[in-house]
Amino acid sequence: MKADAVKIADDVYWVGALDWDNRDFHGFAVPGMTYNAYLVFGDEKIALIDNVFEGFFPEFWARIQDAFKQEGLDEVKIDVLVQNHIENDHIGSIPELLEKCPNIEFYCSAVAASGLKKQIHALDNQEMNPVETGDTLDLGGKTLTFINAPMLHWPDSNFTLYNEGGILFSNDAFGQHVCESKRFDTDQSEAFMELHTRRFYANLVSLSSMLVVKKVEEMTEAGYLDNLKIIAPCHGQIWKNPQIAVDLYAKWATGKCDDKITVIYNTMHHSTQKLAHSLCEGIMSEGVDVKMHFLQMSPESDILADVLDSKAIALGVPTMMNNPYPKVGNLMYYFDATNMARIGDGKKAVTFSSKGWAGGAIKKLNESLAGAGFDVLEEDSIDIKFAPTDDELDQAYELGKKLAQIIKEE
Ligand code: FEO
Repeated sequence: MKADAVKIADDVYWVGALDWDNRDFHGFAVPGMTYNAYLVFGDEKIALIDNVFEGFFPEFWARIQDAFKQEGLDEVKIDVLVQNHIENDHIGSIPELLEKCPNIEFYCSAVAASGLKKQIHALDNQEMNPVETGDTLDLGGKTLTFINAPMLHWPDSNFTLYNEGGILFSNDAFGQHVCESKRFDTDQSEAFMELHTRRFYANLVSLSSMLVVKKVEEMTEAGYLDNLKIIAPCHGQIWKNPQIAVDLYAKWATGKCDDKITVIYNTMHHSTQKLAHSLCEGIMSEGVDVKMHFLQMSPESDILADVLDSKAIALGVPTMMNNPYPKVGNLMYYFDATNMARIGDGKKAVTFSSKGWAGGAIKKLNESLAGAGFDVLEEDSIDIKFAPTDDELDQAYELGKKLAQIIKEE
């Protein structure tokens, strides 16, 4: 097949793959994905930074061939593979790559070196070059500096800095799960970049927020960001404005939130839904931004993206069989797993529900939210029977208003 490489700087090319059709990546709802990989042409050695998902090798290889052609080289000869991370979406093409480039030298973190052999058993006898922060590799006129970045977002994660070009190959960090025809942040609106970077951060990085802060400090002190011109992640658009990406990560990692409340609800016979709408009116009456998510239809990935920069949430689901109506359990898993309610000053939460008979949802919702780190205003919970009366709808309105007033005072 034919596919073009994209030159992103002198002697540096994007040679990734476009996954137009993907809509779910281990539970993350995606509008397609990109698997970015890069070639750096040194005077003596040529380095490939990362790989693509299984099944995408033909496209990947076609772009690699095109990059060599653009450099005026007839034969593809890659000397070095820098593997910044070993999740499947970045290593799936290694076996086919090794068939084409059997003598390629592997560089990765020590954790990645051992993990890679367990992921791809054919690599059992492959020699690895484990690298630590500050180690360098001279490609001939071009130097790569390795930076261990454990838990950003896996224990094996590494960043690689191409010093002379000021390009940080950050793997998953600073990425977005999107699939677009153009490669740069400047090809999209700032709102697009903020939204998709936030979705990615909320779902995959927020658990490691403390480490994000430390890593940015460490890289700043080491001078790694002094000459930064491009951040080239392994997913989504390439940042020609890297400071925007760094600033966004600093905001979310320290828990800086907007005057915004996310309302999440599910409904069985429209009663809890009516409470949600009324509560939303109360929030709006205070001029506070509100995002509504109908849990039955909204992917958890979208809900988390809104919760990340909200100061509070309101969560309402009816009781069914003495328990919260289904699907909220999945959301609670993500609240627990991402730890986002504990970042910075934390987040407030209120709950509301409709029941037919004995109830049970409110108590369990409050317990689960508190367990995930939310500051739950339990005494304000709304727990009605059957369809809401006008007074009960007013109560929901007043709860929304009160919550909005509380976050405005923070
Ligand atoms: Fe894009 Fe953690 O893999």
